[in-house]
Amino acid sequence: MCSIIGYSGNGEVAPILVDGLQRMEYRGYDSVGIATLNNGKLLIRKGIGKVAEVNASLALKEMPGLLGIGHTRWATHGGVTDLNAHPHSACSANVAVVHNGVIENYHELRDCLLKDGHVFKSQTDSEVIAHLLEHYWALKNDIREAMIHTCNRLLGSFAFVAIFEDSTLCGARYDEPLIIGIKPDGYFISSDVLGFLDYTDRAIFLDNRDIVMLERNNISLINFDGDIVNRTPTQVAWELGCADKGRYTHFTLKEIYEQSQTIFTSIHQTKPNLETFCNILAKAEDVFITGSGTSYHSALLAKHILSRYSKIRVESIMSSEFQYSSELLDKNSVLIAISQSGETADVLQSVKSAKEKGARVLSIVNVSTSSLARLSDCFLEVKCGPEIGVAATKSFTSQLSIIYYIADRVGDNLTGISTERRELSNAIEKTLQLETKIAEIAAHVKDVKDIYILGRSIHFPICLEGALKIKELAYIHAEGMAAGELKHGPLALIDTNSLVIILNPFDSTYVDTLSNANVIKSRGAKLIGISNKQDPIYDYCISIPYVKESLLPLVEVIPLQMLAYHLALYNNADPDYPRNLAKSVTVK
Ligand code: M6R
Repeated sequence: MCSIIGYSGNGEVAPILVDGLQRMEYRGYDSVGIATLNNGKLLIRKGIGKVAEVNASLALKEMPGLLGIGHTRWATHGGVTDLNAHPHSACSANVAVVHNGVIENYHELRDCLLKDGHVFKSQTDSEVIAHLLEHYWALKNDIREAMIHTCNRLLGSFAFVAIFEDSTLCGARYDEPLIIGIKPDGYFISSDVLGFLDYTDRAIFLDNRDIVMLERNNISLINFDGDIVNRTPTQVAWELGCADKGRYTHFTLKEIYEQSQTIFTSIHQTKPNLETFCNILAKAEDVFITGSGTSYHSALLAKHILSRYSKIRVESIMSSEFQYSSELLDKNSVLIAISQSGETADVLQSVKSAKEKGARVLSIVNVSTSSLARLSDCFLEVKCGPEIGVAATKSFTSQLSIIYYIADRVGDNLTGISTERRELSNAIEKTLQLETKIAEIAAHVKDVKDIYILGRSIHFPICLEGALKIKELAYIHAEGMAAGELKHGPLALIDTNSLVIILNPFDSTYVDTLSNANVIKSRGAKLIGISNKQDPIYDYCISIPYVKESLLPLVEVIPLQMLAYHLALYNNADPDYPRNLAKSVTVK
């Protein structure tokens, strides 16, 4: 979603803000803006485009001042326009605000403010925050009071940073992350540690209803009731800031290749933590598992793996739907929440619903300092390193390998993730070497309008994941389907223009899936087979190496990720920053 940043310290603020925004750009990237305070006057420059583009056209880095705020936007309310870009100032331009989240009662607030004579410049929900702050500041000339009153008027989810003409910088959060970065000579207030990790690894993670006030570089923390709160600084892992593309043209491609390592690093969990996690799981009467997007596909596969290899019955529910099923949970239930970012609003909402029912919450999360990690009774860290590409790739396979590992600990070590490690590692390496062939196939099929991906059993979640990758990276309509369902309706769509990808490894699903492939072929569709057994029925065959049946999903997803990546290139889409999307989806 949006990234927000504020900085108060020694040194010119604008380059610090621009660099921080560039680091966080993967979160949202339709427009950019910064505000600085220079000689008691607020300067604002903002426009649509990515950070580098807006910086080039508006010379953001050259804005003078030692205090400032910045923003990259992912539009929720109001189109992608210069005026809707943040920061937003109030009428008298004595305060400006950057906001991440959604103000649910903004219509009502805006109407009140309009009646009071306020004039709005944008169509965003965020602008009401600037006007409320201006209103309350004018009332008592007290910024602390203005912050408290404003926060108490806002409904929804928000993290915002406000800059005041008198050199005060403030931030507040409710259901959106906000983190303070502490330097010896200054402070950051940011939605993501990546905003300041180049400068400091000391951070304070604010809690819900916290307000931070930086007055001439003195820091104080209060809550929305005005009470003083104390939060302990923690140290953030420096590696998070080390993300660069290396020799790859895109982060997405680099992250696809990193899977030969990351699948295995994720299984090094600290023993007590893993034991706590598995004990809670083994004792649960009911187990639910949730996630969004790719993480939901992990949850779907987890259902198969945990039931097949550790005899745990699991219900998987996508996070955006979870709150409507939460009556099924009670104090004997366990919810496993899976999330790369740990900040996905739908996932956090599921966790809250589960906690309200007294259920215990376990999570599998890549960002160990995230809201999800902190809300969970116990969490396992995915450990695949920062994933910058908006499309989840290495985080998916790392989530899966943790699930296999858990299944082994709770069951009888049957998945093969530990015992077949060498075979799996070789298979992944060999599959990564298929890139040239997959790029050639992508060149042949790049103009198709619809792609269907079919498979059965443990391959079905991979079909869904492959289709998601093709949709978000290449902007081609793609659908994952259980192969046996085709004849119940979707077969009507198949004709000579269709492209169907079949996950057809030589396992217990092989014969039935091959017969589905024959039915499709006889309707004239083009077929791509992904299999460890060649068959002449396929127009293109992507031969994956042999691995134990249970581990096939970890291998077969890689050709689908690569195909999506190369289709994106052929369709002139930027694979790292798909249009309309954001890495961390913090709105419901
Ligand atoms: O950070 P999370 O794992 O909670 O994110 C969930 C989804 O938003 C995410 O997987 C999304 O679907 C990806 N863009 C898919 O590639």
